[in-house]
Amino acid sequence: MAFMKKYLLPILGIFLAYYYYSANEEFRPEMLKGKKVIVTGASKGIGEEIAYHLAKMGAHVVVTARSEETLKKVVSRCLELGAASAYYIAGTMEDMSFAEQFVAKAGKLMGGLDMLILNHITNNSMNLFSDDIHLVRKNMEVNFLSYVVLSVAALPMLKQSNGSIVIVSSTAGKMANPLVAPYSGSKFALDGFFSSIREEYSVTKVNVSITLCILGLINTETAMKAVSGILDTNASPKEECALAIIKGGALRQEEVYYGSSVWTFLLLRNPGRRILEFLSLRSYNMDKFINNQALP
Ligand SMILES: NC(=O)c1ccc[n+]([C@@H]2O[C@H](COP(=O)([O-])OP(=O)(O)OC[C@H]3O[C@@H](n4cnc5c(N)ncnc54)[C@H](OP(=O)(O)O)[C@@H]3O)[C@@H](O)[C@H]2O)c1
Ligand SMILES: *[C@@H]1O[C@H](CO)[C@@H](O)[C@H](O)[C@H]1NC(C)=O
Ligand SMILES: *[C@@H]1O[C@H](CO)[C@@H](O)[C@H](O)[C@H]1NC(C)=O
Ligand SMILES: *[C@@H]1O[C@H](CO)[C@@H](O)[C@H](O)[C@H]1NC(C)=O
Repeated sequence: MAFMKKYLLPILGIFLAYYYYSANEEFRPEMLKGKKVIVTGASKGIGEEIAYHLAKMGAHVVVTARSEETLKKVVSRCLELGAASAYYIAGTMEDMSFAEQFVAKAGKLMGGLDMLILNHITNNSMNLFSDDIHLVRKNMEVNFLSYVVLSVAALPMLKQSNGSIVIVSSTAGKMANPLVAPYSGSKFALDGFFSSIREEYSVTKVNVSITLCILGLINTETAMKAVSGILDTNASPKEECALAIIKGGALRQEEVYYGSSVWTFLLLRNPGRRILEFLSLRSYNMDKFINNQALP
């Protein structure tokens, strides 16, 4: 106990202070001016608001979702708000070849890519899980696998620009909740995969940042409909949420927490996991992987 008090707690304190409060650069909207950004799931909800913020900041945007009609409106609003350019490409992220081709087309339209904001999800309702394997597969494909496909397709462009991948996740991707098992599974998968890739990038000196955004309940139409009569929590505004996501991405933060209490987020940040990740990385011999990866 004396050892704990004398050494462990101060070390823990310093470690946490370093990770959470290390002097971050201040966010300025000009950081996004002229940047080339993709936003998925941008026909409504948080994605739509992300597109509008980016437009106001003078970025180039390519938005996607399935419904062409709504995307058209989002693009014309973006142009009104001051986007350097704005395009849409409609399609479904159930289709992995669409996902791949989408990134190539978007890159061509903008002449490169600085930030890939992955935000779309398949529709869900809150329900007990019994045996709907089809729904689990759909959640894994749309909410997770397509994110991997999109990132792989975007990586060459992001390497060139020292760019960023921004992944929109949820508290349900960090802790258990009833009634959302397929969704939660797909959001946990994002954390496992992209946090792992982040460690690889750091070791192999790939300067592409990965930001995982952990959101509480946000007042989008879809979410309000889904939780109505089931969940009694305050919802945070989607506009402010969208801005928090962009800020986190621009500042190259590892994680963004928005839309729940300070206490929830303090606990979800899970210092135990951070310490273990930090320590376990040191027992790997990564040399033979670095040599292969360093080639352009
Ligand atoms: N709202 C919340 O309370 C909350 C909480 C935590 C996390 N989040 C996360 O925030 C993100 C956005 O949520 P939201 O509430 O803004 O959702 P939303 O309003 O329902 O928007 C979802 C977007 O995804 C698109 N989409 C749906 N199915 C698709 C498919 N098969 N292929 C391609 N695009 C598809 C939708 O457009 P189309 O239908 O036209 O395709 C729409 O643009 C999600 O990642 C969600 O997990 C939200
Ligand atoms: C998703 O939307 C489709 C089409 O509106 C509907 O048939 C399906 O039941 C919805 N799925 C869930 C899980 O809510
Ligand atoms: C990317 O970062 C490297 C190292 O800081 C720098 O030399 C290079 O100019 C940057 N490239 C771009 C396009 O910003
Ligand atoms: C990575 O890219 C960012 C953004 O261009 C730049 O600020 C930073 O210096 C780069 N870091 C390294 C290690 O090259």
